[in-house]
Amino acid sequence: MPRVSIAGTEKVFEVKEGGILYDSLADQGEDLPHGCLAGSCGACRIEVISGKENLTPAGIIESNTLESLKEEFIEKRGKESIEGKTIRLACRSKVNGDVSFKSIK
Ligand code: FES
Repeated sequence: MPRVSIAGTEKVFEVKEGGILYDSLADQGEDLPHGCLAGSCGACRIEVISGKENLTPAGIIESNTLESLKEEFIEKRGKESIEGKTIRLACRSKVNGDVSFKSIK
């Protein structure tokens, strides 16, 4: 089973392969920041610290939301806030292997 950890904490979760990251952690009592749970609001955004290759590629809805988040991040926090980082949506990303991440507020 893939292991998902929240960077900067001791929290590690064993999740079902192919499960949605948000749902898999919610099922185990971990309530990540969220809104629509449909990939359009961006409230569940995360920075993937390791294991980005173990998440399914972003689909069109997630890609569009991430693109608009990128503009917002650059505007509010500067280019360095996203440069070289892997930003994903927990409500859309499916886990196929070990991943470490942190939520972005
Ligand atoms: S909760 Fe809205 S995009 Fe994930």
